[in-house]
Amino acid sequence: MEINKPMHQTLLILHSINRWLVLASLLYAIGIALSGLRSGSAFSVAHNTVRHVTATIAHVQLLLGLSLYMISPVVKFDVAEAAGTGLVSEHMFFRFIHIALMAIAVVVITIGSAKAKRVVSDGQKFRTMLVWFTIGLLIILAAIPWPFSPLAGRPYFRSF
Ligand code: HEM
Repeated sequence: MEINKPMHQTLLILHSINRWLVLASLLYAIGIALSGLRSGSAFSVAHNTVRHVTATIAHVQLLLGLSLYMISPVVKFDVAEAAGTGLVSEHMFFRFIHIALMAIAVVVITIGSAKAKRVVSDGQKFRTMLVWFTIGLLIILAAIPWPFSPLAGRPYFRSF
């Protein structure tokens, strides 16, 4: 099947940029959850907005990733043709490892966000957000194709 190059490039760049928003929002949400828990402060409307926005940014990344997955030449790629080249490990990484770990991470973040919304006390809200978002962040950090990754090294930044 023909690959739509402009579409692939656009999705790749958006997916690459949004990764930083995913990381920044998770770090910020984890930070405010930790300080809220320590100080015993109330879980305010602003805290709730951070919880919601963080989960939404992760969902956007999931949608961008799924769209990319469907058209990416790295995923479609003919393994037999490229046997012995480094491209096979990239293909296996994106086809199986990246999608599986990232999907799990987004599910963990979604569960954490939903639970934090439902629990009653402010302390429980902060603790739930802290624990589930930290687990999600760690999985994401492990599954990002960092430039130094031996499986699939990709740049920190891509531009249009
Ligand atoms: C929070 C979740 C995710 C993060 C932080 C993330 C991050 C990244 C990064 C940094 C890249 C490299 C981009 C580049 O080459 O500039 C990438 C590539 C890719 N991601 Fe994700 N990703 C996430 C979720 C997903 C999901 C859920 C899928 C699939 C359903 C996915 C599919 C892909 C594919 C197919 C590529 C390679 C595209 C190509 O080179 O053609 N990603 N991802």
